[in-house]
Amino acid sequence: MSDKKHLKRDTITSHAGRDPQRYDGMVNTPVFRASTVLFPDVKSYQGRDPDDYKIMRYGIYGTPTTFSLEEAVAELEGGHAAVALPSGLAAIVAALAAFAHAGAHILIADSVYQPTRNFCDKRLRTLGVEIEYYDPLIGAAIAGLIRPETTAVFCEAPGSHTFEMQDIPAIAAAAHAKGIAVLADTTWGTPYFFRAFERGVDISIHAGTKYISGHSDVMMGIIVTNEEYWLKLRRAVADYGYCVSPDDCYLALRGLRTIGVRMRQQQQSALRIARWLQGRPEVLRVLYPALEDDPGHAIWKRDFSGAASLFGVILRPASESAVTAFIDALELFGIGSSWGGYESLAIRAYPEKYRSATKWNPGGPLLRLHIGLEDPDDLLADLEQGFARMRQSA
Ligand SMILES: Cc1ncc(COP(=O)(O)O)c(C=O)c1O
Repeated sequence: MSDKKHLKRDTITSHAGRDPQRYDGMVNTPVFRASTVLFPDVKSYQGRDPDDYKIMRYGIYGTPTTFSLEEAVAELEGGHAAVALPSGLAAIVAALAAFAHAGAHILIADSVYQPTRNFCDKRLRTLGVEIEYYDPLIGAAIAGLIRPETTAVFCEAPGSHTFEMQDIPAIAAAAHAKGIAVLADTTWGTPYFFRAFERGVDISIHAGTKYISGHSDVMMGIIVTNEEYWLKLRRAVADYGYCVSPDDCYLALRGLRTIGVRMRQQQQSALRIARWLQGRPEVLRVLYPALEDDPGHAIWKRDFSGAASLFGVILRPASESAVTAFIDALELFGIGSSWGGYESLAIRAYPEKYRSATKWNPGGPLLRLHIGLEDPDDLLADLEQGFARMRQSA
């Protein structure tokens, strides 16, 4: 089909990034493993275009397997091009590093993924970059924080653990009016539920480890950019020497093919469980922009076409041992880092320990739940028995 612009998301996830006739009719691009790539003669070897990152030159720049994944994610999200990195954090690091130099000023939402702060505080600051954390709810008022030396505004919506929804279009309009790039960690929205470039993002950063791969067995980062910032970002990734195993790219692309069905199902289960939790006496508040009474709901509804199955639960004040008893009692929710796989997870979270531009006083212990593909009836029964154990230990 020559004009693919009108294709719907699920058609794109099924077809993007593959070309069976190139590979003897195989539906999926095979795993191409390579370091050295041989050229037919000196002229073609020496005539390589250093800025053409979509041809086979050397394994570090990727192989057709890598290109298939990158192409599919970029097409799904509506970006110009994408590059795969070895983890979500590596993608954040490379994207921020592209805008970092001594004397540069970078604005970071106070609600970002904690390791993003860690990189900014421990690495960028020591290299002479000024990092300023801003209130994630700032909206258009970000204009007041932009200085001549500002190089980038970094967003994450919703925020890690606290789930505040940022008004990215308002922030982007203010940043663009001053010629500043907008970077966003869009892992929660995914390229499936959040069309980052239509909302004003210039550089969209995904932890492909989560829903894109979807099976808790791959570490992966993906940066998607608009045309303006493509070479700046791609060159930075090349300069840092990042590359990804073609086997992991194959797995991530295999995951991407089913992202739509997984996310729709997980969203439906998550909404049901979040609403059930809202009615529980042990729960003070559920932090989930997909809920009608969430403060970020209007922005979520305007900017996203769906919700990830990850949300926060603030319990009514309870002892740490009672909260621990609740989590430990859960049989179907695993305890562990990450999310976006097919299985449910529960962890305790402490964002109050690292926020700096704003205070976080939730009024009770905070949990983060990830809802997987299990039957929600079973998950609800598990939570119910967890609360019973919590009451016994109180
Ligand atoms: C919002 C967000 N961004 C980025 C990352 C980093 O991804 P990775 O674990 O692949 O480094 C995570 C991981 O939990 C995350 O939650």
